[in-house]
Amino acid sequence: MPHDVAYPPLDTLKPVADAVWIVDGNPIKAGGLPLPVRMTVVRLSTGDLLLYSPTRYTPDLQRDLERLGPIRHLVAPNVGHWMFLGNWQRACPGATTWGVPGLRDRAQVRASGVRIDRELGSVPPPEWSREVDQVFLQAAFFTEVDLFHRPSRTLMVADIVLNVEGRRMPPLPRFMAGVLGILEPDGRAPLYLRLLLRTNRRAVAEAAARLVGFEPRRVIVSHGRVLDLDAPARLQHSLRWLLGWGDAKAGGVDLGPRSLPGAGAIGTGLAVGVGLVLGINLMVVASRERSADRQRRAPRG
Ligand SMILES: [Fe+2]
Repeated sequence: MPHDVAYPPLDTLKPVADAVWIVDGNPIKAGGLPLPVRMTVVRLSTGDLLLYSPTRYTPDLQRDLERLGPIRHLVAPNVGHWMFLGNWQRACPGATTWGVPGLRDRAQVRASGVRIDRELGSVPPPEWSREVDQVFLQAAFFTEVDLFHRPSRTLMVADIVLNVEGRRMPPLPRFMAGVLGILEPDGRAPLYLRLLLRTNRRAVAEAAARLVGFEPRRVIVSHGRVLDLDAPARLQHSLRWLLGWGDAKAGGVDLGPRSLPGAGAIGTGLAVGVGLVLGINLMVVASRERSADRQRRAPRG
């Protein structure tokens, strides 16, 4: 098959459960690594829409969404998933933008003009607490909030679980993805992120145990194939590196060994390097989004 990590049709609403949809966006290029991106849309019992990790804006997508309900909440679930917010904010002035702590202070975010109205925490706000639960993972230089839609038992994650399909990639990117540890069926958080999460491992392990404890029917990952078959076991498998760290248990089940598999120095260095390049490329994506948006808004003469 040709190498293409995208999940067409792109920028299109796809139903996955009652009141839950996904939208697959145009893949981003991160350090030579093509990464598919996905947002999840939840219609709350109030009728309001929540967009978790918004992908690129298009007027057609906005129109299709607004047929479902008013777009009220734009959620930037971690410090890297904010690049496409600007256009949504301008198109939906009535929406509240939620970001993880510290996101609004990041130089790239300030430079982009993206506005963070409210900060996410460990407790879901009244706006969605009736039906959506929230798990907060925080470590040095990284924070993520994962949401769980209780009625459909749908878990939404950003980077704590990746599940990229290697067969869709050319050999070199597939090799890089393998070094990062993000390839299905063993996809995990990328290695550089796993290293960061070690800085607060007990709290992060407890948060991961909560994710597993939800026993989700499906896990909608932001990068890669949705976990929709045997999702609880797949999620536990993906988080096994983390769940063995603390005394965390999920559903009374011992979650595995306490020791971590050691990462070799070369692999770690390579993964950190890829992580740095990935971060730089995400900034490039944000910059391109801004310049494309400026061109769209420029008066035509
Ligand atoms: Fe990501």
